[in-house]
Amino acid sequence: MTNIVMGVRPERPTHPAFTDHLWALTQRCWEKDPEDRPWVGSIIEQLSTCEGPHSICTQPAAPQMCETPPSPSLGSTTFSFPFISLPQPPGYLYGRDNTLKDLLNLTERLAPVMLVGAGGTGKTAIALTLLCDYQIMNRFGNHRYFLRCDNLENSLDGFLGRLSEAIGVPKPADLAQLRSHLEVSPYMLVLDGVDSILDPRASGAAEIATAMEELGQCPRVCLLATSRIDAKIPGFRRKEVSTLSLGAARNIFHDCCSLERSVGIDTIIAELDFHPLSIVLLASAVSENLWDEPALLEVWNGGKTCILKASGRESLEDCIESLLHTPTIQRLGATARKTLEAIANYPDGVKETRLFTTFPEIGGVDDAVDALCKFSLMYREEGFVKMLSPFRLHFQYTGRVANLGVQPRRHSPDRLGDKNMAEGFSSRGDSSHG
Ligand SMILES: Nc1ncnc2c1ncn2[C@@H]1O[C@H](COP(=O)(O)OP(=O)(O)OP(=O)(O)O)[C@@H](O)[C@H]1O
Ligand SMILES: [Mg+2]
Repeated sequence: MTNIVMGVRPERPTHPAFTDHLWALTQRCWEKDPEDRPWVGSIIEQLSTCEGPHSICTQPAAPQMCETPPSPSLGSTTFSFPFISLPQPPGYLYGRDNTLKDLLNLTERLAPVMLVGAGGTGKTAIALTLLCDYQIMNRFGNHRYFLRCDNLENSLDGFLGRLSEAIGVPKPADLAQLRSHLEVSPYMLVLDGVDSILDPRASGAAEIATAMEELGQCPRVCLLATSRIDAKIPGFRRKEVSTLSLGAARNIFHDCCSLERSVGIDTIIAELDFHPLSIVLLASAVSENLWDEPALLEVWNGGKTCILKASGRESLEDCIESLLHTPTIQRLGATARKTLEAIANYPDGVKETRLFTTFPEIGGVDDAVDALCKFSLMYREEGFVKMLSPFRLHFQYTGRVANLGVQPRRHSPDRLGDKNMAEGFSSRGDSSHG
């Protein structure tokens, strides 16, 4: 007992069932601060995908989603609900306890919800963590589904076809037929990244939105969608996903790499606006390159977000490029490009009322800002139009905008630090990220 109080933990057992994954999970359950321990739902889901003699899940997770036959036991322990295979949520979801609580309340009432936020803020991570929550597992059993929408056809037929395929029912002739299947038992459906099928100017978007509205009204269906655009679908509750607190962002960083906490690292995390994807990419770059703190600081001061192009995983660049490929942004063409480049020069944003006078050379800057805000490439705050730091630094340092024909352009670091380049700056404080 004294040892436990002193922080001493048992040695790793030699039994082959203790794979690296299981041992890492066990250690996380022993964290001193209960807040740092994983959710029970996430533990169960992770146990279900553990390798080794106690493996429950007999099939690998499919890229979209798949349902695996229920397997009744883990060793000698019997669980009362079936297991399914879903993409893995992060080992621990930091700083989102209130969001998860609100979502659990809403799902309790089967209220359809749209999680809205900029690319990489953690919408998918929240949705996946919720799907693995114990209450959700108990309520929906193996009728929990996760459908990625980013590679779906923009037509009602395509949408219904993929949804029915995912749920494992015959392709319906229409929505009414699909609805009748969904009346049999409670269903939890996550539609991830609906921005790609709901872009207002894309063909089929209006019909898909109507179908989502109707699905949301099904009496036994709990629908959770994630989106980078604020797609207003009647009946859906909008839940904003913003960036994290310093504490949560710091935990993500130090979970992903072995560097110790320091003021220098906290400063970088703050410079990244506590943006989860950027933090994960930065920590991965640290791990992959075996950087110590001075090496990280040196590379960061030299290249900023160029570090965030980690190979082999979704990068910030992919995330920005996929937004730039949406029809609405493509149609804005050069105006969107000029607006992005121009506003990227203003770390604290530009006053909304001064957009036209600050950038008289950009015809239609107000419309461009509207579209870019809608797609979470910019946001409005207290009368200012701003860009999340990782996006801003990305445009500043690479100056390359996919398919919009922008040539690379670099700014000197001095210019980056100058907070008073023009009228219209907000006094931005990070106190809310304490
Ligand atoms: N609160 C969190 N705790 C731990 N890891 C997180 C958290 N939020 C996000 N992450 C991690 O950050 C990365 C980006 O998150 P995620 O993919 O969920 O963002 P997103 O908002 O869905 O982005 P996109 O709009 O591009 O789909 C992922 O690796 C995810 O696991
Ligand atoms: Mg996502």
